[in-house]
Amino acid sequence: MRPASIRGRRLRRTESLRRLVRETELVPHDFIHPLFVEEGSGLRRPVPSMPGVFNFSVDTAVEEARRARALGIDAVLVFGIPPTKDPEGSPGWDPEGVVPRAIRAIKEAVPDLVVIADVCLCEYTDHGHCGVLVDGEVDNDRTVPLLARTAVAYARAGADAVAPSDMMDGRVAAIRAALDESGFGMTSILSYAVKYASAFYGPFRDAAQSTPRAGDRRGYQMDPANLREGIRMARRDVAEGADWIIVKPASTYLDVLREVRRAVDVPVVAYHVSGEYAMLEAAAANGWIDGERAMLEVLTSIKRAGADRIVTYYAPKAAALLGGVRS
Ligand code: PBG
Repeated sequence: MRPASIRGRRLRRTESLRRLVRETELVPHDFIHPLFVEEGSGLRRPVPSMPGVFNFSVDTAVEEARRARALGIDAVLVFGIPPTKDPEGSPGWDPEGVVPRAIRAIKEAVPDLVVIADVCLCEYTDHGHCGVLVDGEVDNDRTVPLLARTAVAYARAGADAVAPSDMMDGRVAAIRAALDESGFGMTSILSYAVKYASAFYGPFRDAAQSTPRAGDRRGYQMDPANLREGIRMARRDVAEGADWIIVKPASTYLDVLREVRRAVDVPVVAYHVSGEYAMLEAAAANGWIDGERAMLEVLTSIKRAGADRIVTYYAPKAAALLGGVRS
């Protein structure tokens, strides 16, 4: 009998052969490292639902930023946990709030590290929603100016990019206009253009203390069932002035990632979210999967599907592994 003419195994025989024909390769600068920052000093508070992830104070966030830089990571994404909250989320745009102070401190200590600031009201509102409530509903048009104000405060502190994650309509255009008017024409907008109302944000809300007191976010975040809507939103945000965009979550939306990558020509960042991280960590801790291999497989899949860069809580661990450094 004639042997099989196509033998895929010929190029799978050794690691050098496999490496030579590998189509997708992860590198340390693929990753954006999320940092949670709160008041205090010397803080490194473990997030219970995310083993290996910590809440920092400004000083320890700077140390963590230095460590990330040394591992070959190019960017951090900063989230704030304020000491007080109110119905409008005003601690969000306080120039002396924890996020502006963290931005200033990180930029001073590690100037070439790209600092991206998440812009949303949910960490700052006492009800935990991403905008201002009017008759129990998040009011889009009252929220947008507050987001723009927050974005300007972060740009003034030195952020290289602001990343609106609130899902209000029109916020990209409003933020662009506000940044330009305030003299921050070079601050980029990394829009969470395609963000689904996902069950996988649970551990993040533990870390950021931002679980809504009542209701959920389905009135403003996207329905997980919709792909075409994602493409429309990606195009809309680019038209409004987004310089780069986020698709989120990542591993359960690889189809969306691929299609969005094809539909727009700006950089597309995938956000491998807290629940995706927690799931892998829980299975690995139980000995049910090999955590390191699963991590690399998932991150590779996200890049293969079309992500230019990946926000992930695995950033330091993956960068250390890929760079041959001990984390
Ligand atoms: C703020 C925000 C959230 C995440 C990023 N920015 C939470 C949410 O929308 O509920 C989720 C990140 C994660 O789960 O890792 N709106």
